[in-house]
Amino acid sequence: MANVTFSSPAMRKDVTVYATAGDCHTLLAVAQKNKVPIHFECENGECGSCAVEVSVLSGKLPMGMHLTEKEKTVLRLAGKITREQIEQAEVTDEPPPWRLACQYIVRDEDILVRF
Ligand code: FES
Repeated sequence: MANVTFSSPAMRKDVTVYATAGDCHTLLAVAQKNKVPIHFECENGECGSCAVEVSVLSGKLPMGMHLTEKEKTVLRLAGKITREQIEQAEVTDEPPPWRLACQYIVRDEDILVRF
């Protein structure tokens, strides 16, 4: 069970939604369900239009999470992450801040999503 807070200049105020445990939806799906206007096009990890910055609240380290191959490629080409950050993520399993909302699976941690 996690609180997901969305923050963007495109919204009048931040929106916090509750993602239930075992809910294996993508961040983009959670946003769409709650009418949060994250931009998207392909919904398949190929265009990069849904890039968001994710930070874990409560001061904890982010849960280990693999970047998909599509995320590695698209985020690197978009200049959101470096090759070094990708290598670091592969070694430590610690995700970089920029992610693709259509590839990011919401987990049991409170996060802030900026876009
Ligand atoms: Fe295209 Fe997420 S919508 S990469």
